[in-house]
Amino acid sequence: MRVANIEDSANFLRGIRHSHDHGRMDTDTAAVHAGREDLTGLGVHVPPLDLSSTYPLPSVEAGGAAYERIATGGRPAPGDSLVYQRLWNPNVDRFERAVARLEGAAAAVAYASGMAAITACLVATVAAGKPHVVGVRPLYGGTDHLLATGLVGTTVTWARAEEVADAIRPDTGMVIVESPGNPSLELLDIAAVVAQAGDVPVLVDNTFATPVLQQPLTHGATLSVHSATKFLGGHGDLLGGVVATSDEWATRLRQVRALTGGLLAPMSAYQLHRGLQTLPVRVRAQQEHAIAVAQWLRAQPEVDHVSYPGLPECDPTGIVGRQMTGPGSILAFTLKGGYAAAASVAEHCRLITHAVSLGGVDTLIQHPAALTHRPVAPEARPSAGLLRLSVGLEDPQYIIDDLGQALHSIAAPVEVEARELTTVG
Ligand SMILES: Cc1ncc(COP(=O)(O)O)c(C=O)c1O
Repeated sequence: MRVANIEDSANFLRGIRHSHDHGRMDTDTAAVHAGREDLTGLGVHVPPLDLSSTYPLPSVEAGGAAYERIATGGRPAPGDSLVYQRLWNPNVDRFERAVARLEGAAAAVAYASGMAAITACLVATVAAGKPHVVGVRPLYGGTDHLLATGLVGTTVTWARAEEVADAIRPDTGMVIVESPGNPSLELLDIAAVVAQAGDVPVLVDNTFATPVLQQPLTHGATLSVHSATKFLGGHGDLLGGVVATSDEWATRLRQVRALTGGLLAPMSAYQLHRGLQTLPVRVRAQQEHAIAVAQWLRAQPEVDHVSYPGLPECDPTGIVGRQMTGPGSILAFTLKGGYAAAASVAEHCRLITHAVSLGGVDTLIQHPAALTHRPVAPEARPSAGLLRLSVGLEDPQYIIDDLGQALHSIAAPVEVEARELTTVG
């Protein structure tokens, strides 16, 4: 269904709440139960937390065979010793199986952070002898920085979504995109990028959308990556990353993890697996709040522009309703007063925390050009007047009231002289 604007989008959400939407029921049910299928058989109600760094070996022969299987990226066989936590951990495995189910993927591989997950994908690409990457901006500043520096042996060509086919070379191993993009919420048509990429795997950073709103693999992407730190965890108390993909890619990615060690800690895996159970409910509730906040922000005289996928001007080709089931809960807005006004608003928020990160139950605001996207090349850096807002579960009226008093901190918006970014920090 095409969602034309915020008002339609609110109606759309009301519609799915009352309808018996099979896709939604499936996601809600999978979020609660996936990765827990064997618990009743084990006689427990929640997953046992396994903190073992090492595992007893039944014999040298059997231990060696298990090592061989797991260290080369395979799964342990029934009865295998798990050998060592860097090779396998049951809580990580449970979280991965749940993410794979939600993403409609054959498998998932989890890491210590979103950047560790992206790094593993790049290392696997370089190891396959295809070090060239096509990057479509905007990307999260850390991803942009990693590609721009070539730190793990990649080279990058920056291209617009419609230029991807022209940027592909014989040594291109990956196309990297985000939709919605961080921080300015640009949307792109994943299937169209996949068609342009041909045989080259497309990695979609799905952090902003979550599998509740978008499943990139169903649109032809090969890899769907998350900073699990954000919505999947949802409570701002851990770092993690995960890649949903094919069995073949998962084998390569597990081997990279086993050999380079960017492991998700078992306790974080436990928390992430628990976080998934409320993911659909959180995503939908935060989205409803974001719709209200976006509507209000659009009417404020200090605000020049609001970027939010639920606004018709931000979604001219109808991605929401076709590729995404809703517009999400992250938005960006640009102040008429430029950098000085944006800094003033961020610094005057009281209920809303001035902090990087996003996707948690509490509302966060941050200035991307000075912080998350600081390392991005000047020509691709977000505007100095732009703030990114991750809308949480607080009553939206409280969020609006806080933004209102923060906007009033701007002395006289049209007269404020926008300082250049070079004065930051
Ligand atoms: C879209 C996106 N991808 C990747 C990352 C990196 O994730 P992490 O901080 O978990 O390493 C972030 C972090 O902000 C992000 O927003």
